[in-house]
Amino acid sequence: MSDEKKVSNAEASEFFYPSDEIVSNAHIKDYDSVYKRSIEDPEGFWAEEAEKLEWFRKWDKVFDDSNAPFYKWFVGGKINIVHNAVDRHLKTWRRNKIAMIWEGEPGDVKVMSYHALNREICKTANVLKSMGVNKGDIVTIYMPQIPELAITMLACVKIGAAHSVVYGGFSVEALADRIASANSRVLVTADGGWRRGKVTDLKSIANEAMDRSPTIEVCITVKRTGHDVHMENDRDFWYHDLMALPIASPRCATEVMDAEDMLFILFTSGTTGKPKGLVHTHGGYQVFTATSHKYVFDIKDEDRWWCAADPGWITGHSYLVYSPLVNGSTIMMYEGAPNHPYPNRWWNMVEKYGITILYTSPTAIRGLMRFGDQWPRRHDLSSLRLLGSVGEPINPEAWRWYHKNIGADKCPIMDTWWQTETGGFMICPLPVTPLKPGSATKPFFGVQVGVIDEDGNEVAAGEEGKLVIKRPTPGMARTILGDPERYEDTYWKEYAEQGWYKAGDSARIDEDGYIWVIGRIDDVIKVSGYRLGTAEVESALVSYPDVSEAAAIALPHELKGNAIHVYCILKAGVKGDQKMANDIKKHVSSEIGPIAKPEEVHFLESLPKTRSGKIMRRVLKARALGIDEGDLSTLEE
Ligand code: PRX
Repeated sequence: MSDEKKVSNAEASEFFYPSDEIVSNAHIKDYDSVYKRSIEDPEGFWAEEAEKLEWFRKWDKVFDDSNAPFYKWFVGGKINIVHNAVDRHLKTWRRNKIAMIWEGEPGDVKVMSYHALNREICKTANVLKSMGVNKGDIVTIYMPQIPELAITMLACVKIGAAHSVVYGGFSVEALADRIASANSRVLVTADGGWRRGKVTDLKSIANEAMDRSPTIEVCITVKRTGHDVHMENDRDFWYHDLMALPIASPRCATEVMDAEDMLFILFTSGTTGKPKGLVHTHGGYQVFTATSHKYVFDIKDEDRWWCAADPGWITGHSYLVYSPLVNGSTIMMYEGAPNHPYPNRWWNMVEKYGITILYTSPTAIRGLMRFGDQWPRRHDLSSLRLLGSVGEPINPEAWRWYHKNIGADKCPIMDTWWQTETGGFMICPLPVTPLKPGSATKPFFGVQVGVIDEDGNEVAAGEEGKLVIKRPTPGMARTILGDPERYEDTYWKEYAEQGWYKAGDSARIDEDGYIWVIGRIDDVIKVSGYRLGTAEVESALVSYPDVSEAAAIALPHELKGNAIHVYCILKAGVKGDQKMANDIKKHVSSEIGPIAKPEEVHFLESLPKTRSGKIMRRVLKARALGIDEGDLSTLEE
């Protein structure tokens, strides 16, 4: 476990208090009483929140645990998240409210009202229907951060299909694997996107992935960059061509869905094997994400909300697209790099669009912090009233820089701990919560957490242990697509008796009851807040011709939080050198994506393994860090 992330007592006792103005305007002024109520009567609490949405048919039962751990929420309820995210706003003044402000990296801008957004969704939904997309199908989406990405997600859902968004930074193998697991017949992509002034050639990657994906029959391509791309007869269609056809009518009925019907799948890395497709559903997910978004970020109609995450990850699903639209917010979306063409790009957009809440990651903050205060100082950031952080623990130094230089010492920072699996915030402050830099503070409403030792007992205050969630919440993933057993085994089996969910993180709760999440304790690596599995990296490594065995570990990195270091055993007679190391880095990057590119490649004669043949990554890590290797009794070397 990472000693370097331990926080000194001085830091742990430092409080930042919200201003009177923040407190007096907050939706929830007293966390303790609402929390108490949400724990004493979770079903009552969630039913009350669910009532704030529009249902086609009200649920019969709030919570059903008869088939644990396959929990159900709002059983018998009929709903569609698109109805609450878009359709219902059209009946109110929000019809003409700005739903989305989008800025492309080259500086092009699109602004859409809810009315306009709805037309685009309907047209796209009709296009998808004409391509044979049916209720229950899973459409794979592989796009840059352009409005059509959100529009396609919503269009799929409107007609009862689910989507599987594959992050645009992933590469051929990762995309092909995800298409195959989702069994997708339709892929929606773009020719490319803009990143640091250059075109990312998504269509070529998609083409290569489709060559390996026999299930794909139709590929719809949005023209974004306009560079030459290969289009296959009978398979490839331009989005704008289809949108100009009479079939692309701006009217389309929203499909009535069961609360427990699949909304989307999102692949995420686990400890072993291929990434797993977590299944999220219509009912509980929208209740949970809308409630958490509203209370944690104190959402008001006049807000301009900017979640700077990519929609290819859960943060983008839950808090860029779905919950802000359900709450009728104006969302901001930006295509490119935060420091292009200069490190003031984000601050310029905050000023230009009058952003009131910015939600981003510690990695992004650290990345911008290194350019110095002069960049944000050139801009009037006074529209901001709240800030947010997600994806990895935020180091107190980055917290303070963000608070002082972006938040003018007055914007509270909502450090939200959660996971792809939980759908929404689990541990996070409210705007009224006194903050400690680096702590995600307290559990959200309806959430009960524990920090336990190896025997399942709660550890003492200040001691590190495993983080568990003690009861299911409505926004949690329901299963792993096609592999319910793996869902049960991964998350619920270890504490089946107690009914606890295993988070895979270590944490500590201090004397004030503040939770400090330390990091992953399994073989999941968080690089720049992105989630990768050692298994994926290792499988890419052994697909390199000269590598016979490999291990990947995470080592601390100043900017990225963690960086991937890999250890390779080469085939007999082959000698590794710097050139091969660079080649291996490139290979991993082109198989999975640039985020998986190893920081360093080491060549070894053997790997530390247990007698049963499992690689002991913790031993590699301890050796690299020069710390105690711990219990080596199972080591066979
Ligand atoms: O290790 C925790 C870390 O990110 C993991 C979940 O990753 P993912 O499913 O990609 O979701 C990220 C966005 C919700 C967690 O197990 N993590 C996420 N947020 C925080 C965090 N660690 C510390 N503090 C956070 N605020």
